Amino acid sequence: MTEYVTVTSDAPLGRNGAIKLHGPDAFVGMHAAGKLAAETLDMIAAHMVPGVTTAEIDALVYAFIKSRGGVPATLGYRGYTHSCCISINHVVCHGIPSEKTLKSGDIVNVDVTPIFDGWHGDSSRMYLIGDVPLKARRLVEVTYECLMLGIEQAKPGNTMGDVASVIQRYAESHRYGVVRDFCGHGLGRLFHDAPEVVHVGRPGTGPELKPGMIFTIEPMINIGRPDVKLLDDGWTAVTRDRSLSAQFEHSIGITETGCEIFTVSPAGLHKPPYA
Ligand code: MF3
Ligand code: CO
Ligand code: CO
Repeated sequence: MTEYVTVTSDAPLGRNGAIKLHGPDAFVGMHAAGKLAAETLDMIAAHMVPGVTTAEIDALVYAFIKSRGGVPATLGYRGYTHSCCISINHVVCHGIPSEKTLKSGDIVNVDVTPIFDGWHGDSSRMYLIGDVPLKARRLVEVTYECLMLGIEQAKPGNTMGDVASVIQRYAESHRYGVVRDFCGHGLGRLFHDAPEVVHVGRPGTGPELKPGMIFTIEPMINIGRPDVKLLDDGWTAVTRDRSLSAQFEHSIGITETGCEIFTVSPAGLHKPPYA
């Protein structure tokens, strides 16, 4: 049975498996944190070019978030020591910034999670580096559409399965594989909270969506099979068949009538090309 708990401001809650139903104060906090996440992803767009190292992007992310009064949630998170994740080509997620340079033809996900005033804003976008082949650009486009189709289903009365099933149906109609091993998640004062937000499933199944729920949707879509494997660094997840993978992520909150997206790009850089 799914358990829900109404969050009251005098009772800060830890992670107890129940789905939190947040009040208006949380929505205000999440809009501010989400905006900072989106502005960070806007800021790096001009820097996502051939020759730049992913460590340089990470440094820009760190400096920008700090300059706005935020802190990257990933810094020191379970031993992770960087300000963002940068996942290139067949890397599914959790790519670690390094001295590796971006090259023309790469498709790259950058995932940022600033903490601002105690609230977590979690968002990622894809970037196209130089000239990217049509096949890869199509994957990126379809993955963005998967995220937005999922968000369209995020409203009271629907279930997590309604969100998941539209994502799965659309991705599989293009003969892409939807990653099972990583999910979206509740968030707020916590980085990762209940519920688990899966990206494959059947309509009408899973927890019902209720006003006050706050969570991410972050589908990872592969040109090939859904299967992933973890590299020896303990973080980097790659496609087993080495096919290209793409991901977009928004943080959203369920309202009485639908949902609010906390991480919309103020600059209108929703999906590439951004130029
Ligand atoms: N931002 C990622 C997410 O969407 C989590 C990254 S955790 C890290 O949930 F430690 F790998 F950075
Ligand atoms: Co997330
Ligand atoms: Co993220």
